[in-house]
Amino acid sequence: MCDLRVPEPTVSPGVTEAEVVTMQNLQRKCRSEDRSFLREWASAPLRVAAIAPSSATLARIITADIGPDTGPVIELGPGTGVFTRALLERGVKPENLALIELSTAFARRLEADFPGVAVHNRSAADLKEMDLFGGAPVGAVVSGLGLLAMPDDLVLAILDGVFRHLKPGGAVIQFSYSPRSPVRTGVLDKSGYGVERVGRTYRNLPPAFVYKITQG
Ligand SMILES: C[S@@+](CC[C@H](N)C(=O)[O-])C[C@H]1O[C@@H](n2cnc3c(N)ncnc32)[C@H](O)[C@@H]1O
Repeated sequence: MCDLRVPEPTVSPGVTEAEVVTMQNLQRKCRSEDRSFLREWASAPLRVAAIAPSSATLARIITADIGPDTGPVIELGPGTGVFTRALLERGVKPENLALIELSTAFARRLEADFPGVAVHNRSAADLKEMDLFGGAPVGAVVSGLGLLAMPDDLVLAILDGVFRHLKPGGAVIQFSYSPRSPVRTGVLDKSGYGVERVGRTYRNLPPAFVYKITQG
């Protein structure tokens, strides 16, 4: 979500007009992302599972272990692209990034905002049958999906599909507003997947926790 504590930029000593225009454009884009998110949440609250995009701080934590050498990366549920932007800033090449987003409105926005990045307007549950990166193993999966709001069968289908693409030893980096596992115990027991908490931040609305899901 946009940082509401940031004052309106104005020309002042040390701040040029060009810098003010850049800051104003960034703030406008940020507010437009907030509005787009709220609209999607109002039309499908369970699917969107958040009323505002994640913060830049959460994006930095969730992408911390990813860089130009990670190879192909899949992002699940990118929304307006807060994590996508962080992944590109960390050096992931656009052609090494695949976004899987169920909302058509978000998918269209992502296509416009991130040229060169493959946007798939599909459910993450389709991953099992999707051909990505010519079959090359994926280095990491970043997920913004609200797994706790999904039925167990759907979560299992998503995770089984994800691990078909991930390289051996690879992990899904998942955020959740819950301090407990983002995957219910029933699903973990059935599948053998493991969950470990690796980070948290209060600089997000609401505060968020970061987890790694592995094949156990
Ligand atoms: C909590 S929002 C997170 C958005 C973004 N990653 C962020 O942190 O700001 C969840 C996102 O997952 C998408 N989504 C929900 N179910 C999905 C599914 N089965 N497959 C792909 N995307 C899905 C929603 O449309 C929404 O964009």
